[in-house]
Amino acid sequence: MSRTVRLLVLILLLCAPWTPALAQSEAVVEEMIGPDAVRFFASATAKERARPSLCLVEQPEALGSPPPSWTLRPEFARIQGRPSVTLMVPEGTDLYGTGEVPGPLRRNGTRTVAWNTDAYAWGAGSLSLYQSHPWVLGVRPDGTSFGVIADTPQRCLIDLRQGIRFEASGPEFPVIIMEGPDPQSVVRTLARLTGTMPLPPRWALGYHQCRYSYTPDDRVREIAREFRDRDIPCDVIWFDIDYMDGFRCFTVNTWDFPDMRGLIGELDDQGFQTVAIIDPGIKVDPGYHVYDTGQAIDAWVRTAAGRPYVGDVWPGDCVFPDFTRQDVRAWWGGLYAQFLDLGFDGVWNDMNEPAVFNTDAKTMPLDNVHRADADLGGLDTHARYHNVYGMLMARGTWEGCLKARPRRRPFVLTRANHLGGQRWAATWTGDNVATWQHLDMSISGVLNLGLSGQPLAGPDIGGFAGAGDGRMFARWMGVGALLPFSRGHTGKGNVDKEPWAFGPEVEATCRLALQRRYRLLPYLYTLMREASETGLPLVRPLFFADPADPRLRDQDDAFLLGDDLLVACRTKPDGPFPDVFPAGNWVRIGLVDGDLDDPDLPALYLREGAVLPLGPVVEFSGERDLTEVELLVNPDDRGTAEGVLYLDEGDGFGYRTGEFGLLRYRAVLGAGGLEIEARMKEGAWSGIVPEVIPVMAEESMTR
Ligand code: NOJ
Repeated sequence: MSRTVRLLVLILLLCAPWTPALAQSEAVVEEMIGPDAVRFFASATAKERARPSLCLVEQPEALGSPPPSWTLRPEFARIQGRPSVTLMVPEGTDLYGTGEVPGPLRRNGTRTVAWNTDAYAWGAGSLSLYQSHPWVLGVRPDGTSFGVIADTPQRCLIDLRQGIRFEASGPEFPVIIMEGPDPQSVVRTLARLTGTMPLPPRWALGYHQCRYSYTPDDRVREIAREFRDRDIPCDVIWFDIDYMDGFRCFTVNTWDFPDMRGLIGELDDQGFQTVAIIDPGIKVDPGYHVYDTGQAIDAWVRTAAGRPYVGDVWPGDCVFPDFTRQDVRAWWGGLYAQFLDLGFDGVWNDMNEPAVFNTDAKTMPLDNVHRADADLGGLDTHARYHNVYGMLMARGTWEGCLKARPRRRPFVLTRANHLGGQRWAATWTGDNVATWQHLDMSISGVLNLGLSGQPLAGPDIGGFAGAGDGRMFARWMGVGALLPFSRGHTGKGNVDKEPWAFGPEVEATCRLALQRRYRLLPYLYTLMREASETGLPLVRPLFFADPADPRLRDQDDAFLLGDDLLVACRTKPDGPFPDVFPAGNWVRIGLVDGDLDDPDLPALYLREGAVLPLGPVVEFSGERDLTEVELLVNPDDRGTAEGVLYLDEGDGFGYRTGEFGLLRYRAVLGAGGLEIEARMKEGAWSGIVPEVIPVMAEESMTR
């Protein structure tokens, strides 16, 4: 090279843009996809090559350029060959979401790897749990908010140590950024894009009792009897894998359960619903109907060499349905018709990361092949479809349950899921551990799932792994009874963890905890309906009450149930109750005799200006019609308060054609006492409209 040329090269190099973002040769593509949402592609080529989104309800249409006032813009780059997107955020911005994560509510400074993982006995430091939500919610110091989706199903690092950075495997991916005046608006926008949970049956909001496993049939009968004899409310008893014949899904072992249909009928007579577990791993076993019918449609995920992939799970060698294919989901869904005919009311999809034993990665090889439908992106490796495998399984299950029983709302619980998966299933936080720290993380975990689109979530109350002690169990039941999905569960061989298992004192606390839940059922169901309409979760962080109040931003031990009820929990053995409250006069309330005096139960506070509808203490949600509601009123300084109550049949789809009622209550405290005005705001409800019994909130303290 001549000197001049060398000099020229040097000058060119010096002038060359150094930041990876600027190294992009093409301009970033920006397009509105809704009133408050913009989608960004790294370049026109990236847009052209983009695969279908697997988290959005539909592939959005481009609606033009963002307005000049739009300020949030990502920077695209490649880091060691991997696409990465960075968003700088203003000083003082607090970050939330990131899906199912351990640790604190506020996510600043954390790293999460969105990669569905069988995380038995996970801990505060686990980077990946069972679900993947490449999503971050930001709340600026003034309370205005924004959210960011990294629209990729691939393994994705969410690095919140400096601003927001996503780094994913696989091809370049778009990001969707949304803006809102407060976090609630952003969560609603997220729901508009990724969907909401259809209304589950009302019993799903009751208390659930599980263990790995209740066998044989007489043990199940005994559990049911204990609940009723001890006057402890419970709606659902669960069947874990040992009910199956050799862990073959959709079969029943007739040694332990000679008459499953009869047993379910008996439980039904006592007001219990039943949920049975179904895993994705199908035993390789010619002659077994699920294996044979799956073989007949060549349903299985394949190896790179083109053979059905075989992995080891509970039954030994298993094949795995390729849920990325509609025909496979339809076949899978069809299996539920006969199964549900036994009388089961709901389905629990577990191990669907998918979990595979005896492999380093705890899952199937990434070069396995899915013959996915074109609308999902077509044939590709497991690396692309891993994070949506559980979601698509839940989808097949949900659709199958609906087809089998078109007049009943499906109830599906899934362990693995992905952003948007709330459309098909509720969730729980997997195999937690019986420690105080896990009790504490139950709250932040459920809060962040709620902020990530999943409204119906809860922990294994009492801890799946490890024994724990009675005091911790009582506290955990106190908290768990106020979380959206409320289920006690424990692992194989572990100590018993029913509400009475730790002796009379703990039992008394558990009874109060669950009686409280049942008093709150009308309110919980009203919130569930709101979640299904708007995407606002049932359990909300304290900062929802005042997004500009910095004191509320990292409150992990207290949460809001809806807007009106504040739940303050003691999650350390001798720790105090949290005492940070949003502004206003929050009045401590009791819901059942004795709950105010029990130091192991969370303290409840009613918002100023709120009317809280309460039902009676019942043994199960369908025990009787709601003929009366008690309205607990905390008037504001003008003497007024408001609340809503949602009514429908509790199951079925009549509500979709107007067979529901949304009642608005307005309370006025005047010279003549408390007066209530009730107005049907929405719906054409022809059922019972409950009588109201108004009660001043302060008075509830003397109950
Ligand atoms: C793993 C699940 O996380 C757990 O809840 C269940 O009890 C076991 N699988 C057995 O099915």
